Amino acid sequence: MELSGKHLVLGLSGGIACYKAAELCRALVKAGATVQIVMTEAAGHFITPVTLQALSNRPVFDSQWDAREGNNMAHINLSREADAIVIAPASADFMAKLIHGRADDLLSLMCLARPLERVPLIVAPAMNREMWAHPATQRNVAQLKADGVHVLDVGQGDQACGETGDGRMLEADEILQELISFFAPKRLAGQQVLVTAGPTYEAIDPVRGITNLSSGKMGFAIARAACEAGAAVTLVAGPVSLPTPRGVRRIDVRSARDMLQAVQAQVDAASVFVATAAVADWRPAASADQKIKKDGSGDTPALRFVENPDILATVAQSPRGQQGQRGEAGGLFCVGFAAESHDLLAHASAKRERKGVPLLVGNIGPATFGQDDNALLLIDAGGATELPRASKLNLARQLIAEISRRLPPGAPTR
Ligand code: C5P
Repeated sequence: MELSGKHLVLGLSGGIACYKAAELCRALVKAGATVQIVMTEAAGHFITPVTLQALSNRPVFDSQWDAREGNNMAHINLSREADAIVIAPASADFMAKLIHGRADDLLSLMCLARPLERVPLIVAPAMNREMWAHPATQRNVAQLKADGVHVLDVGQGDQACGETGDGRMLEADEILQELISFFAPKRLAGQQVLVTAGPTYEAIDPVRGITNLSSGKMGFAIARAACEAGAAVTLVAGPVSLPTPRGVRRIDVRSARDMLQAVQAQVDAASVFVATAAVADWRPAASADQKIKKDGSGDTPALRFVENPDILATVAQSPRGQQGQRGEAGGLFCVGFAAESHDLLAHASAKRERKGVPLLVGNIGPATFGQDDNALLLIDAGGATELPRASKLNLARQLIAEISRRLPPGAPTR
């Protein structure tokens, strides 16, 4: 569980987004965190302490005069034991209070009393779009950031007031993702990671084509894990319907040749390249401009194929790919994947040599395509390491740790 061992104070200030805080509380507990709810009086107009006590499994605090604490100093006790204080929702008024160091209720008092070095403050703003866009709010956000507060983005869309625009609080699972990222070790800080994912689609005519069963899940998980580890991540994705991981820049492509073009346009900026895409080996030699019609004669169209470019081999054999292979700073560290049906070690080792990559990740194709879990075999010059069956996200995080250990020491290459 991603947040196990973490103790979070979840603070609610007044706003309709309080209903999302209930879901957030549940998601945090499910991710293994212990959650202490602290709410303002205004928050109590939107959601009751009963709901939040039931979800957090702890009594809720909402007053600085609460006599339950032995020393009567809830603001001190609660903030000292927290790994972070998360304010969700953070109203415009509450943010204004924070920047002035006001402390006239338990939540703001606790934020002011927290040990700055040890207890980070994370706020998820939530308000009407005009309130969000107001120069006063924007000034306050800038000041909070300057004070070292981690201010999350706002969402965009329909608002409870009937208006549409920026200012919605992020959804519970988005805030959860942000918190997981926040606590993740920044093993790839300063690195630029380029990932290919999913299948490619090779057109036969405007309505038909050839593709494969790759779901893109492994590549998307790797992009997410790299982003959690502090890298700037670009994901070149074939046709899949997966949501883009938060913070990842995504470029959608269709064919192998589109994918190669997108990769070549991005690769100079990258320091790590991870090729997870199941690129079609062949494409129809010609793609018809119009739909090929059945003429009733029983004749079938003749399909001829030509080989697609090998994106990984092209990149790995470039001068920077070769520098990366030799472990030189400034090189591009390339990671390939091999989906095999049998004899994984032998085939994957041969593929590592053939492609010219320092690290090749083998898996059993039929056992991974479309699945949520997988098992990996990592092969480098030193031998093979097994990553036993686990969720793709878990494996992706382990793989990112393995990649970071193999990067040349010192400053990031780009
Ligand atoms: O040769 P094979 O398809 O088995 O190699 C798999 C590895 O090469 C994967 O990392 C895949 O993303 C990459 N690849 C590629 N371009 C191709 C074929 C494979 O980048 N045309």
